[in-house]
Amino acid sequence: MRKPIVAGNWKMHKTVAEAEELVMMLQKDIEKISSIESVFCVPFTSLFKVSSMLQNSSIGVGVQNIHWEKQGAFTGEISPLMVKEFAKYAIIGHSERRAYFGETDTTVNIRVIAALTNDIVPIMCVGETLYENQKRMTLDVITRQMKIGLQNIGNEFAEKIVIAYEPVWAIGTGLACDPVTANDIIFHAIRTPLKNIFGEKVSQTVRVQYGGSVNGSNARDYFSQPEIDGALVGGASLKPDFIEIIKAAAK
Ligand code: PGA
Repeated sequence: MRKPIVAGNWKMHKTVAEAEELVMMLQKDIEKISSIESVFCVPFTSLFKVSSMLQNSSIGVGVQNIHWEKQGAFTGEISPLMVKEFAKYAIIGHSERRAYFGETDTTVNIRVIAALTNDIVPIMCVGETLYENQKRMTLDVITRQMKIGLQNIGNEFAEKIVIAYEPVWAIGTGLACDPVTANDIIFHAIRTPLKNIFGEKVSQTVRVQYGGSVNGSNARDYFSQPEIDGALVGGASLKPDFIEIIKAAAK
């Protein structure tokens, strides 16, 4: 049995004071639900505050990106070594980073490796754009993202990885992907490559989230699918609705 993992991606939202407020609003209710791994992926500026607040909590803390080097002349970047003092998770290769900040399958790969070798759980995002979806390229695109994103990784690390399937056209648009379709895509373009790369055991251990307009009302439809082990949540993670998503995952 894979333990479901629901992560909130706060994106570029919340000052430190606002982050504190949001954690206070959600913390107690989320901590009551221990059958789910829940995570707040916060902006770097709130990392110290939020991780102090959640020091003895079952809620995990994550970031939204890391650099692949431990240190060096990389102005404006944050290394896994700096992050691991505060956070256990890192979102890697989110489509917004791929679209606006030049992230490629290859840079995703070296960031995933940096996370794993620094004891950080990578949440590696894959997903097709609207154009790719309409051109029926979905399975090819995701299979490629999986293959390159996960190259040069030993089996001893592989089970720790979390994959988030996020159709780009469903992110922040309210246009969620049909749960049965998402399940099917995950089976063919995520579990199958996992099996080809790492073997059957790893492919059955790695958790796969769905992401893209998940909210308290539709969450249950995703979690009832056999290949979906949680969600990566943007907009709804900044609201009380996030608790409803976690509750749905626990059912
Ligand atoms: P959304 O974002 O839930 O607001 O669609 C999901 C994400 O970008 O991870």
